[in-house]
Amino acid sequence: MMKINQKISNFNSKNPLPIDECIEKVLYDQKSGYYTNKDPFGENGDFITSPTISNLFSEIIAIWLISTWEKMSKPKIFNFVELGPGDGSLSKVIVNTFKRFPEINKATNIYLYEKSNFLIKLQKKKINNKKVKWIKNLNSIKNGPVIFFGNEFFDAIPIKQFTKRRNTFFEKYFNLENKENISEIFIKGSNQDIIQIKSFETLKKLTFIEYPKKGFLELSKIIKKISELSGGILLIDYGYLSSHNSNTLQAVMGNKKISIEKMFNNIGKADVTSLVNFNLLKEFFVKNKLKVKNIVSQKFFLERMGIIERAQILEKKMTKKQKKYMSETLARLLEEKQMGKLFKVIFGYKYKNNDFFGFE
Ligand SMILES: C[S@@+](CC[C@H](N)C(=O)[O-])C[C@H]1O[C@@H](n2cnc3c(N)ncnc32)[C@H](O)[C@@H]1O
Repeated sequence: MMKINQKISNFNSKNPLPIDECIEKVLYDQKSGYYTNKDPFGENGDFITSPTISNLFSEIIAIWLISTWEKMSKPKIFNFVELGPGDGSLSKVIVNTFKRFPEINKATNIYLYEKSNFLIKLQKKKINNKKVKWIKNLNSIKNGPVIFFGNEFFDAIPIKQFTKRRNTFFEKYFNLENKENISEIFIKGSNQDIIQIKSFETLKKLTFIEYPKKGFLELSKIIKKISELSGGILLIDYGYLSSHNSNTLQAVMGNKKISIEKMFNNIGKADVTSLVNFNLLKEFFVKNKLKVKNIVSQKFFLERMGIIERAQILEKKMTKKQKKYMSETLARLLEEKQMGKLFKVIFGYKYKNNDFFGFE
């Protein structure tokens, strides 16, 4: 059995870690982190995301961006930031689609915001275009409205978990009891975290709370930029509208769910995510003075943006085999039992108009 403490620094029986700190190390440790060592995407990876299922998904995001730029009266400088671009599939399609629309192409700066140096290398190989810049902070975005987009970005940022017993909050930690055994322990939560949690109406009645503290820190930087320049943030992720006190932490390896224990025995080989609480996200956006469109399902959004019509056009030039493949991938994106319903779309924005496409 693997000696877990050799893989995660400062993790030993005397130093239990809050689960977000522990998972951060599991995913991003320079030596053994999941995202610092391998390409997890696609059929042969650990999970399949919408941009790696079908270019149609990314084309629809490109069309949505063009429509948003038009709704903003075609600004001469327009910034697009992809958050957590993974293997670069989506931005590659955005770059190629924009080439066919010279006016927006000229106006747009494309930025990729990526934490993993390993994935940055992969993205640079895939997207060889001078327009695209890789950034680790948002300082270089200075003029023009800015649109942030993230597919499965927020769910990849580790969350905290708490239980509430008689109005006292206890935070979940992972504890390494000996060199091989991991247990969960609960320690009284910090005042600062409890104040934050209590400030959200969405979390008020819960006895088991998932709190995306790190995710909110990321969003705060993004919202500051949106407030400064105007624009918005479009997030697509798998999640729910209201929590039922459930533990949604899950590990995935080889396209299959595995237990958290098994994940600890496969550090660097398994991904850890959680479902996104969309009503909490909405409350966070509103608190930070963004306006929010209706939260809709991925199926609703992609269909409203014309994915079926786009597929019908492409179909005309396809072989039977290609048609079959496209209809299978489309079903994966849209069917309620697949990604259509569980995946949701939220748009928070600061702009004088409200009539952006896709949500009504
Ligand atoms: C689940 S993957 C999704 C990748 C891609 N968007 C897709 O749909 O295929 C999560 C991505 O977010 C990146 N990421 C996670 N946390 C991040 C952070 N705090 N800052 C920048 N990138 C981050 C990961 O390295 C990875 O590229």
